[in-house]
Amino acid sequence: MQQHGNKLYATATKPEPEPVSTWVPWKLLNISTKTYSDKEIMYNHPLHQQVKEVLQSAALKNAKADNEMAVRLIANAADMQQLFQQLYGHRADAEKHFAELLQTVVTAHKQRSAALQTLDASKQTAEPWFISNELVGMSLYVDRFAGSLQQLEHKLDYLDRLGVNLLHLMPIFESPANESDGGYAVSDFRKVDARFGTLKDLQQLQQTLQQRGMYMMLDIVLNHTSHRHEWAEKARQGDPFYKDFFYFFPDRTLPDQYEQTMPEIFPESAPGSFTWVPELNEWVMTVFHNYQWDLNYSNPAVLVAMLDTIFFYANLGVDVLRIDAPAFIWKQLGTTSQNLPQAHVLLRLIKLCVQTATPGMALLGEAIVAPAEIMKYFGTDRFTARECDFAYNATHMALQWDAIATGDTRVMLAAQHELLRKPYGTSWITYTRCHDDIGLGYDDYMIHAAGFNPWEHRRFLKDYFSGVYEGSPAKGALFAVNPKTQDARISGSLASLCGLETALRNNDAAAIDMSLRKIELMQAHHFFMGGLPMLFYGDEIGCINDYTYLNDSGKSYDNRWMHRPMIQWDSINIDDTATVAGKVFAATQQLIALRKQLEIVSDRSNLEWMTPHNIHVAGYVRHLPNRRLYCVFNFSDKDAWLTWYAFREKGMHFSRMKDHVSGQQLPVGSDREYLVLPAYGYMLLEGVE
Ligand code: GLC
Repeated sequence: MQQHGNKLYATATKPEPEPVSTWVPWKLLNISTKTYSDKEIMYNHPLHQQVKEVLQSAALKNAKADNEMAVRLIANAADMQQLFQQLYGHRADAEKHFAELLQTVVTAHKQRSAALQTLDASKQTAEPWFISNELVGMSLYVDRFAGSLQQLEHKLDYLDRLGVNLLHLMPIFESPANESDGGYAVSDFRKVDARFGTLKDLQQLQQTLQQRGMYMMLDIVLNHTSHRHEWAEKARQGDPFYKDFFYFFPDRTLPDQYEQTMPEIFPESAPGSFTWVPELNEWVMTVFHNYQWDLNYSNPAVLVAMLDTIFFYANLGVDVLRIDAPAFIWKQLGTTSQNLPQAHVLLRLIKLCVQTATPGMALLGEAIVAPAEIMKYFGTDRFTARECDFAYNATHMALQWDAIATGDTRVMLAAQHELLRKPYGTSWITYTRCHDDIGLGYDDYMIHAAGFNPWEHRRFLKDYFSGVYEGSPAKGALFAVNPKTQDARISGSLASLCGLETALRNNDAAAIDMSLRKIELMQAHHFFMGGLPMLFYGDEIGCINDYTYLNDSGKSYDNRWMHRPMIQWDSINIDDTATVAGKVFAATQQLIALRKQLEIVSDRSNLEWMTPHNIHVAGYVRHLPNRRLYCVFNFSDKDAWLTWYAFREKGMHFSRMKDHVSGQQLPVGSDREYLVLPAYGYMLLEGVE
């Protein structure tokens, strides 16, 4: 060993270069063994062997895509092994399962079609493909929006006209009709439920989307299976291998201990977190509904089986995989069994595997948890921006509802310092509504900071949106009311929560106009703030609550169905702009078109909040080196006056500004003059010479 300055160098003999024609990346591994002893550089020789063997046994061709995958595997293998060891290193069978995991990764690559491999390559751009302002998504139930997968193809022109180019198909894999939780209780991860069509239909749809330059997003329900899944059925029959896929307990001792610290998710419809299995005389863990059995990820066989399922979806051509309920995937006695560090280790490991074999598929972690916790799903420390590519901006979504109910943006602003910590290279799903309830899960200190009492404030919001508060135009309902804690979340469609249902019932033209403005403001505010806007089907045409779920015993216990409408296309004419549907469609279409024109609103960590000179106005600046876009939104039902200083303070030095929404130019006033934003109005302003 020689010492140069403060660095140590191993003395080594340079190996003979290999002839270029036989070069394959995994032979890179040989360089180190020829040059250094394992001990000197702590080279992980067993892993080297393992990676080499798995690559050799795959008999890959020397094609570009094969070589690139091998390079990625070599680059990622040490991290993959380290993460795996953190979870399973104590087990005698750890090595065997790690070998299976590597095999699963390489097999996934081998099974990937050439077309998808080409797409993968095209997505490896300098900036992640998914932060682009040109993407706009929609979540939809295939049956409730279009009828079936085949019929959905006929709706693509409609979506195209709207401007939507990424489709999130709500769960379509087999799920027992009356015990389905909207498809989130999956009995077969690989069989499309007959209600929607066949796997072939799905493949056909994916092809069509790809040809049209559209993207597809599907769910993987990682945390649990239906109690009718084959694994659960085998466990119920006493098969020890599959019993170990779930958490079973012979009596209530441990379940009682767990329940002391585990919050209930559906306290009304599914209290507790364990269900009695009479066939076995045992209890099984069921954090969500009693028919959703939690998978036991402390068993590495579960991880490998679910990884294989993830790759099955990846190779169907999924562009964004929504990982359902990742906060719950690791359980530990004495904790909430949510957001545990091991859940993050699992997600990082999954990310590395996906990045190796199917790199074109981005991961969305559906963690609807406290703001500081959501942030961790993007990865921390050495794994920053190496966990989930996307998370839902659930905090901001709820804060928009807070602001529209109170007309006051202070709580929203008090939360932003947390949200701005999102790392570059990751992105938000931004939204106003999805198929789930709205949880008011932001922190108490944010409410305090705005000068309110958190308990009173949340009570006001619940009363306001459930229509109990006198004078509230909103028509929603409380969901998952917990009698022990008084916690509750909110159901209701965008339009109904914005007062449209009440206004239509009262045939009140002024109130209808106000609610339409609110709908548009709610969409506009998140469309330009960075992230991928995800519309919820029906909201683009102002659908109000659909109460038909009450007649269906498989749904009536769950009022989230009120905002999951059956679209009655016969009664909708989007071309008639005198109708509500026509108006909302046209406004949404314009917003989408505007977003696509403004490259500055791509999610490049280039957002800065404006100083709140008027508490009714939430304003942010999007910036590029030579450009600034000032986006201002009035959340109150009256005109709001905003000093021109608010813009100057943030670097605006022009005498005129153009509003991209109206296309009009405005003269900029002095610091003592004001820009007037009408009730629920908004502008996207940019300086002009
Ligand atoms: C997710 C889904 C929700 C479902 C739950 C259990 O939160 O969005 O609809 O009930 O997971 O799978």
